Amino acid sequence: MVRPTRSLSILCKEPSIMPVMIKDLSKKYDLMVPRYTSYPTAPHFNDSITGDIYRGWLEGLDPQTPLSLYFHIPFCDEMCSFCGCYTKIVKRYDPVADYLEVLLEEIDLVARTLPARFKATNLHWGGGSPTMLKGEDWMRIIERLRLRFDVPEDAAIAVELDPRTASEEYIQALQLAGVNRASIGVQSFDDDIQKAINRVQPYEMTAQVIGWLRKHGIDHVNMDLMYGLPNQTTEMVIREAELTIGLKPARVALFGYAHVPWMKSHMKLIDENALPDADARWQQFEASSAKFIKAGYKAIGLDHFSLPDDEMTEALNEGVLHRNFQGYTADTAPAMIGFGASAIGQMSQGYIQNISSLRQYRENIAAGTLPIERGIELSDDDRLRAHVIERIMCDLTIDLDAVCEQFDIPKATFVPEVEKLMPLSQDGIITLSGNSITVTESGRPFVRLVAAAFDAYLDSGKGRHSRAV
Ligand SMILES: C[S@@+](CC[C@H](N)C(=O)[O-])C[C@H]1O[C@@H](n2cnc3c(N)ncnc32)[C@H](O)[C@@H]1O
Repeated sequence: MVRPTRSLSILCKEPSIMPVMIKDLSKKYDLMVPRYTSYPTAPHFNDSITGDIYRGWLEGLDPQTPLSLYFHIPFCDEMCSFCGCYTKIVKRYDPVADYLEVLLEEIDLVARTLPARFKATNLHWGGGSPTMLKGEDWMRIIERLRLRFDVPEDAAIAVELDPRTASEEYIQALQLAGVNRASIGVQSFDDDIQKAINRVQPYEMTAQVIGWLRKHGIDHVNMDLMYGLPNQTTEMVIREAELTIGLKPARVALFGYAHVPWMKSHMKLIDENALPDADARWQQFEASSAKFIKAGYKAIGLDHFSLPDDEMTEALNEGVLHRNFQGYTADTAPAMIGFGASAIGQMSQGYIQNISSLRQYRENIAAGTLPIERGIELSDDDRLRAHVIERIMCDLTIDLDAVCEQFDIPKATFVPEVEKLMPLSQDGIITLSGNSITVTESGRPFVRLVAAAFDAYLDSGKGRHSRAV
């Protein structure tokens, strides 16, 4: 049952009653919406963006632009059945070693195409598991990067790290390569859940790897947790939050398990009947979130938490938090170049995605062609909506009048969107004051729905998304 706004906002301050209210809402708004790591979202990329177009964009880049570089390593040695990322299972190192050679060539190719030597302020390795690369290969790749780009001493160099494959020696190799942040995949500390998702990783292993990272000076540690996993309960996520807090990560990502078996067939291994429903997911998120906030973490956007002195908290406080394909980021570089199969880049003109097929990616690089599969050129309307959506996803508040002034457009531009948001206002997910929208604290898990009101592509039928909460 949906109750009127006034009583809801009063009840929201009353913890004993709130779960009943939100329980209604999590069912009511159990919709499928994008996660808005870009706008337009990836299903709307198309083949109008070719290697030639990208070449023109790179050639025209102002040499003063600080760059963010993303490297995709699409390999793992085992498939976690929850995994929604682009990866391939390999049992030998040869394919990874071959891929590295192609990646090095791609770095050369992009550097040759750019009009000058650029400064790279942010480097991020994602996957798959970038830690499939051998320790000595990290040195090769970083040397090549330093040859082609200026990588300042204080550059943020982050790696997604699978603790199951990391030894102390390996972590030393990462440190030598200049890595200063590691995101550790944990998901759940519960033995049964770990078995159900094919990701057996005892707590002691995670704690040991974090100890090694700190010992070797990689003291920016992030941890990835998930809720909504098969047979996961609220008690379990509370315990997982407690164990995580004990390890003192600077940042925590608390992702809602996105079950998309129509896109990732290995997810069919997960028993759908064991998946928590919308209410349970909401309760898990809230219980875990409360633990992190009580422990001194700041809630960031939809699903992150960070310590007060972490750059992400500072970025939020200064209004410069961003959202990109890696999720929330303190990275302010205006252009991101993606390297590796399926990697996505972002420039002022639009988004560019590399070819996903490993064979075609390799063939393109061998032919000296930028390996582009698709992308999208941004229209003025895309830029406007991208700004609104990113600010809502990051700040949870937006003054639409100020946006209209900034973009020099009529104040009435967003009347239809504000009308669409009325039910969310009546349900206490947002407050509306004139043309200012603020997501309430209890509405935080629904922020994607608020952003979706500004998505002009949502009804175009492309893309099937994961649950809103
Ligand atoms: C690309 S994965 C890389 C992690 C690294 N390969 C490892 O195994 O530790 C990054 C994170 O995405 C999150 N993730 C992957 N699949 C997901 C899904 N289906 N729903 C929600 N989060 C997911 C997990 O928390 C994971 O740690």
